[in-house]
Amino acid sequence: MSIIRNGSLANAGLEKINWVKEHMPVLNELANDFSRNKPFSGLRVAICLHLEAKTAYMALVLREAGANVTITGSNPLSTQDEIAAALVKEGVEVFAWHNATLKEYEEHVYKTAARGPHLIIDDGGDLISLIHKKFPQFLAQVYGGAEETTTGLIRLRAMEKAGVLSFPVMAVNDALCKYLFDNRYGTGQSVWDGIMRATNLVVAGKNVVVLGYGWCGKGVAMRASGLGSRVIVCEVNPVKALEAHMDGHQVMPLIQAAAIGDIFITVTGCSGVITGKHFAAMKDKAILANAGHFDIEIDKKHLNAGDGPRRVRSNVDEYVLAGGKRIFLLSEGRLVNLAAADGHPAEIMDMSFGLQVLSLHYLLNNKGTLGKKVIAMPPELDRQVALLKLKGLQLEIDELSKEQKEYMDSWELEGHEA
Ligand code: NAI
Repeated sequence: MSIIRNGSLANAGLEKINWVKEHMPVLNELANDFSRNKPFSGLRVAICLHLEAKTAYMALVLREAGANVTITGSNPLSTQDEIAAALVKEGVEVFAWHNATLKEYEEHVYKTAARGPHLIIDDGGDLISLIHKKFPQFLAQVYGGAEETTTGLIRLRAMEKAGVLSFPVMAVNDALCKYLFDNRYGTGQSVWDGIMRATNLVVAGKNVVVLGYGWCGKGVAMRASGLGSRVIVCEVNPVKALEAHMDGHQVMPLIQAAAIGDIFITVTGCSGVITGKHFAAMKDKAILANAGHFDIEIDKKHLNAGDGPRRVRSNVDEYVLAGGKRIFLLSEGRLVNLAAADGHPAEIMDMSFGLQVLSLHYLLNNKGTLGKKVIAMPPELDRQVALLKLKGLQLEIDELSKEQKEYMDSWELEGHEA
């Protein structure tokens, strides 16, 4: 039996799902194929992802492909109650509601794990690690899992290294059709969508400090420039710092940036990135947001030591520090693009979730042969998703001729240098 907030919201949720479906050609193609063959017939699939419309559509595609699907949210603030209601109406089992307490959230993930899945889709590694900790009796029956994000892969690789990972997990995050588009363009756009919806303030002319210049940080910084702000990047990796510099951004340590920034966005996957000494250096009315997976990048405990928080607007908390300085924290320091907006655009998640569905199919077809480790996305699946996406966009590309292929494969290169 599902656990959701309000079943009467189902129609509003279905409207949202129908909208994204129109913009997800890769999933639509896979749905056509798999609803005929039903490759997941009789199998239990457990999903722990941000529970909004795109995720819901993927869950429905898997159900059409024969799976019994159970789903929970990977973040209490990103769960949308109308989407949960719509899924239940469509025959998917759901354990999730918006703004669940930590205890409720853990219970929802627990109930999802307790279904004893054959295949798992995870975002952040919570579901897979819980199955290992609390349900050892299920481990042998799991064909494999697929992990959506950078932070989850770090945890899963640690499990592999410690020798405790009990089944193969596909590194969906590391696929080209994932991070080049989802982390960069998806996060880049939706983080600004979240910040602008939460604050309704102008971005142009402001000093925006981006912490972490990985794939997500690059997207956030690129879109900040496009909106007319001056971008400052703080990094710990010298290569990424140099890349930010060559991309035209200012690079400096956070303690310097703290004094001049108007908006700060953490997207590192690391903990304790913005902390007490930085708050102390900030200007009055500095705005802080996080887009990294967990709400650990901005030191909320230290903020709490002052006065506050006081909710001044939906998704905006005011903290008053010593001397009366105000700091505004968006979405309680959780993923701002999912808590204050609807996450990545549907066209982007089309590719990420196309990879997820194909990963489960691959894990099923290769069960017992992949080892107990994090495995790389087979290049042919990346290529399949890219081709389906190009088809959906009605874009055609050239192909190598036979002669060109031979030339590219040959080590005896012919031609004249300069
Ligand atoms: P990445 O590994 O490509 O980049 C992270 C960057 O942060 C690296 O360049 C690293 O050197 C830097 N970094 C680490 N600690 C730092 C510190 N203390 N100060 C400054 N820089 C630091 O990772 P990616 O893919 O960019 O993901 C970043 C985070 O965002 C992860 O937690 C990931 O799970 C999450 N994510 C969030 C999404 C969203 O929708 N908001 C979407 C995809 C990923």
